[in-house]
Amino acid sequence: MLKGKHIVLGISGGIAAYKAAYLLRLLVKKGAEVQVVITPNGKEFITPATLAALSGKPVVSEFFAANTGEWHSHVDLGLWADLMIVAPATASTIGKMANGIADNMLITTYLSAKEQVMVAPAMDLDMWAHPSTQRNVATLRKDGVIIVEPASGELASGLTGKGRMEEPEGIVKAAEDYFRRRETLRGKRVMVTAGPTYENIDPVRFIGNYSSGKMGFAIAAEAAARGADVTLVAGPVGLPTPDGVKERVDVTSAVEMYNAVTQRYADADIVVLAAAVADYAPATISDTKIKREGASTMELQLVRNPDIAATLGESKQGQTLVGFALETDHELSNAMHKLEKKNLDWIVLNSLRDPEAGFMKDTNKVTIVSRKGETHSFPAKTKREVAADIIDTITGNKDENGKT
Ligand code: C5P
Repeated sequence: MLKGKHIVLGISGGIAAYKAAYLLRLLVKKGAEVQVVITPNGKEFITPATLAALSGKPVVSEFFAANTGEWHSHVDLGLWADLMIVAPATASTIGKMANGIADNMLITTYLSAKEQVMVAPAMDLDMWAHPSTQRNVATLRKDGVIIVEPASGELASGLTGKGRMEEPEGIVKAAEDYFRRRETLRGKRVMVTAGPTYENIDPVRFIGNYSSGKMGFAIAAEAAARGADVTLVAGPVGLPTPDGVKERVDVTSAVEMYNAVTQRYADADIVVLAAAVADYAPATISDTKIKREGASTMELQLVRNPDIAATLGESKQGQTLVGFALETDHELSNAMHKLEKKNLDWIVLNSLRDPEAGFMKDTNKVTIVSRKGETHSFPAKTKREVAADIIDTITGNKDENGKT
């Protein structure tokens, strides 16, 4: 899995830096090409000579070579890397990464890294638990960084608690898992619907809903990161197209979404319907702005919109169909009913009752239910992590302990 992979190993100044030598050795043994970048403090804990010998490459640390003044390009390194692992990552380095404080080569390399970054924190338990560290870790997660959670145990300070860097074997496994996951959808065509629909009433008004599109966009991003050919059919949202998404189709109404999705359905292997589609649309759209005529009530006649999910369910030809259910009551039974009625293979249930789930939020808490009635419940996570859980579950690559 790691053979021939280009890995940048970033080492910051914590006592766990001595373990980085072993980590480096393991990565090289697995066939990876490793380039070490070390912070000035890191060099207080482990010598560049050791690391250069183990990696077979000069260690990068300074912006300029002391004797020649030659500039070391962090951009080249960032582009070269298939994966950047920061181990150990101190509270300071995590804070700088989260906030873009680019005062050393490790951070500048991080900021130019195009591919995945993985961080193995190492610090004292109080530093790990501090709201500042937790906030920075949450920011990194949101930015797509994989956090290899520190373990609990004896710390260098003599205290016992959470903050010990994950052992090198565990970090190598996380790297291998990452590369394996990246291939899960190679060659597969995935279509995702996302966002709300707007049903026009007149030129300035519409019927809509609070869907932000974040969940669907996260699924499209994760599917693309795993090698899929992704088509994203998006309702009116202001979100940028995730990296690697092959085709984005912007639509406004449910009928437009229906047309875009049904046209592309035959080519899809997996379809994830994360959009919040309006069930009804005004029967007629006024060409001019409707005036307030003095009446105290007004009637708007609505007609049913097509049910995209049900239509796809009826004409399924081997596609895996995944729907969403946002319920306010009888969550599980309503979701199961929807799954049956629309002939879906999976349904992702999130409850509006849950403070960590739902519209506009950056987090979600889901239960994924299969046709056979298997349920997989996950804790609250970022929408990108939820997207990974959904893909792992529907491809049978599930990890219910929650990938970090
Ligand atoms: O609206 P409802 O709760 O029935 O939605 C469940 C699933 O059906 C969601 O995945 C949603 O994207 C999809 N749906 C659809 N077309 C509709 C209504 C819902 O594709 N008109």
